[in-house]
Amino acid sequence: MPEASHVIPYGVLFLFFLLSTFICTNHACKEADHNSLLSSFDISSYRLNWSSSDCCHWEGIACDAGGRVTHVSLPSNRLQGSISRSLGSLTHLSHLNLSHNLLSGPLEAGLFLSSSRLEILDLSYNILSGKLPLFLSSSYIQIVDLSNNQFNATIPSSFLQHAWNLSSLNVSKNHLTGQIPSSLCIRSSSIRVLDFSNNDFNGSIPLGLGNCLKLETFRAGFNTLSGTLPSDLYKAQALHEISLPSNLLFGHISDNIVNLTSLTILEIYYNHLSGTLPLHIGKLSKLKLMLLHLNNLEGHLPPSLMNCTNLIELNLGFNHFDGNISELNFSQLDQLIKLDLVSNHFAGAMPKSLYSCKHLKAIRLSGNDLEGQIQPEIVSLKYLSFLSLGRNRLTNVTGAIHLLMRLESLRVVVLSNSFLGEELPDGDAMIGSGFQNLHLFSLSNCQLRGHIPVWMSKLKKLRVLGLSSNILTGSIPPWLGSLPSLFVIILDNNLLSGGLPKELFSLQALVSDKPSAQTDSGDVELPIYARPQNGSVTSLQYNYLSNLPPSISFRNNSLSGNIPIEIGRLQNLHHLDLSINNIDGSIPDQVSKLTNLEKLDLSRNHLSGGIPASLSSLHFLASLSVAYNNLQGRVPLGTQLQGFDATAYEGNPGLCGSPLPNKCQQMNTSDNRNEIPWLYISVTLGFIVGFWGVCGPLALSTSWRFAYFQFLSDVKDRFVC
Ligand SMILES: *[C@@H]1O[C@H](CO)[C@@H](O)[C@H](O)[C@H]1NC(C)=O
Ligand SMILES: *[C@@H]1O[C@H](CO)[C@@H](O)[C@H](O)[C@H]1NC(C)=O
Ligand SMILES: *[C@@H]1O[C@H](CO)[C@@H](O)[C@H](O)[C@H]1NC(C)=O
Ligand SMILES: *[C@@H]1O[C@H](CO)[C@@H](O)[C@H](O)[C@H]1NC(C)=O
Ligand SMILES: *[C@@H]1O[C@H](CO)[C@@H](O)[C@H](O)[C@H]1NC(C)=O
Ligand SMILES: *[C@@H]1O[C@H](CO)[C@@H](O)[C@H](O)[C@H]1NC(C)=O
Ligand SMILES: *[C@@H]1O[C@H](CO)[C@@H](O)[C@H](O)[C@H]1NC(C)=O
Ligand SMILES: *[C@@H]1O[C@H](CO)[C@@H](O)[C@H](O)[C@H]1NC(C)=O
Repeated sequence: MPEASHVIPYGVLFLFFLLSTFICTNHACKEADHNSLLSSFDISSYRLNWSSSDCCHWEGIACDAGGRVTHVSLPSNRLQGSISRSLGSLTHLSHLNLSHNLLSGPLEAGLFLSSSRLEILDLSYNILSGKLPLFLSSSYIQIVDLSNNQFNATIPSSFLQHAWNLSSLNVSKNHLTGQIPSSLCIRSSSIRVLDFSNNDFNGSIPLGLGNCLKLETFRAGFNTLSGTLPSDLYKAQALHEISLPSNLLFGHISDNIVNLTSLTILEIYYNHLSGTLPLHIGKLSKLKLMLLHLNNLEGHLPPSLMNCTNLIELNLGFNHFDGNISELNFSQLDQLIKLDLVSNHFAGAMPKSLYSCKHLKAIRLSGNDLEGQIQPEIVSLKYLSFLSLGRNRLTNVTGAIHLLMRLESLRVVVLSNSFLGEELPDGDAMIGSGFQNLHLFSLSNCQLRGHIPVWMSKLKKLRVLGLSSNILTGSIPPWLGSLPSLFVIILDNNLLSGGLPKELFSLQALVSDKPSAQTDSGDVELPIYARPQNGSVTSLQYNYLSNLPPSISFRNNSLSGNIPIEIGRLQNLHHLDLSINNIDGSIPDQVSKLTNLEKLDLSRNHLSGGIPASLSSLHFLASLSVAYNNLQGRVPLGTQLQGFDATAYEGNPGLCGSPLPNKCQQMNTSDNRNEIPWLYISVTLGFIVGFWGVCGPLALSTSWRFAYFQFLSDVKDRFVC
């Protein structure tokens, strides 16, 4: 009997044991974890499939054999609110991925205190803010991605204190301040990725990177880091990528950089680096991207640079490099796709060896001291899409255009400020013989003689035409109005005469208010720099042609006749400048239909009559001048028109009323209540609006990898085409 009484309990125990192993191998969720999850996420508001009674089967959740939650992976689930402290009680959590949600608020202190097994923490692409936690308690942590949030304090020095096995830290795109943490690699020798870019970090880059023997990617661009490149950076021999653009770094690039033989990306553009390129830079034979533009680098390019045979993009623009460029042998750079040497002091002829870089899509050598002619061998560059050679001393524009017409891929051609005093080639033989993909053609500031050539009438894809500051005579050809894509025409400072052809006012791309349609893959291989045409010293950078303001500018010619009423059709026009001509008649009411107009300059003509009150419906108008005409009557009362400076109206003896000093005789003049708000709007818009100029000092920089543009006003004396 005692035997039997023992058998049953043993049997029950055995059964219980069997059952429990069965449950365990099925990861039945531990209640504590179940409850932590439920109190961490408000499932009623999300479409999470958390219906099963076993939380280990819930969407995004995984457990270990003991039924403890190890993975919480809920990216892109539109999760909102703050990250609940209860998550911290999942003591076995190793993977937490809540990226691409709408989580906000600070990370509560202590959230990760008991998460001692955390290996992967991905909270990127949320709107988390405030400080980072004092430290992550897990010594297993490998990946920390907090990028794309709004964290805005310094990184506590204790933050990764226990992170012996850290391999990747990404805090890019936040508002973090203070210094980049030093000595990360002293604790963890396995770091491969460090990304501090797009924050407000300041101070210098700390010493200590030399201990990062496995570091492959180091990014800290778009901060305000100063000081020199730390000397032990060159000991991190595994480095593939050094990316430090848009900081305040100065000093030299050390010769020791050639020790980093794995380097494929070197981008330190838009800093204050000085000195020469390391003599043996050619040892970096894996380099693909070398972006060092917008610095103060100088001297000759070392011949060994041409041993970097894997280069895809070389940008050394806006520096002080010199030397005879035709002595460099580019022929080994057969992977090269983009070459930008804009605004340096290179002399000599176009290097012929460049024409053997068959993959080239973009060449910009403008703003140097090149001379001679474009050689016939250029026609072997079948993929060339972007060619900018302006601001040099090239000759033979006729030969240049005939050759370039044979390059079928060409979309952007800028040849401004060269070919002084030559004749712009024309002739029936040229009609329809090339440039069929041309989107932008600029041949400004060349003092070229001739007419607007007829071959241009066949450039069906032409969107932007700049021929200002030449000595072109004749009239504005009516066929210009039939180019279906044209939306920017700049013909300033020529001797063009005759009337404004009516056909111009049916320009398809300007008539419709739709964003310039059809061919809009609209990006350009290199950004275009353009200066507002108001004498401003700063330029804007355009990564897409479609971002250029739709413009017609015929300033300073000898145009005559009236402004036709058909002008009202150009709904998409942003800038209209007809100043300094001989235009007469009145300002047609229809101008007020150009509702996108930001700039209107009709000054220095012979316009008469009154200022149409309807002009006040141009709500975007930020710049207006009708000065020096024969306009009469009152500046329309109580409208935005009174918000402009008196200089907008001066030189019209018959004009009166605010903002002009002379009061109108017959009526009361007290009504100027709208003046202040409109002035404010004008000024605000004035800072936003750019204008397509020809060659302007540069004020901007970005990487081709960041598709946005930024307005920086502190870089002067940098000329672009
Ligand atoms: C919800 O998850 C369970 C597993 O726990 C699965 O069987 C079921 O098909 C899922 N339902 C939906 C709608 O995805
Ligand atoms: C987090 O999930 C996203 C989306 O599935 C994924 O792209 C990302 O790589 C994950 N993060 C980590 C660190 O694995
Ligand atoms: C670090 O990683 C190594 C190898 O992956 C492993 O053996 C070790 O246990 C890890 N140490 C910690 C503290 O996670
Ligand atoms: C860091 O995260 C950002 C996104 O927030 C991503 O674009 C970037 O590539 C990441 N850095 C590295 C080195 O992977
Ligand atoms: C370029 O590389 C070749 C082969 O490695 C070498 O012989 C030559 O000296 C190098 N040229 C320069 C200028 O460093
Ligand atoms: C201009 O260039 C063309 C094409 O390269 C060439 O045939 C012609 O001889 C050149 N003219 C002069 C004057 O050098
Ligand atoms: C008008 O253009 C001529 C060249 O055609 C130039 O010399 C003159 O300075 C320009 N005048 C103004 C006011 O821009
Ligand atoms: C020119 O225009 C730009 C942008 O529209 C504006 O920021 C700048 O102040 C203007 N400069 C002058 C000299 O009017």
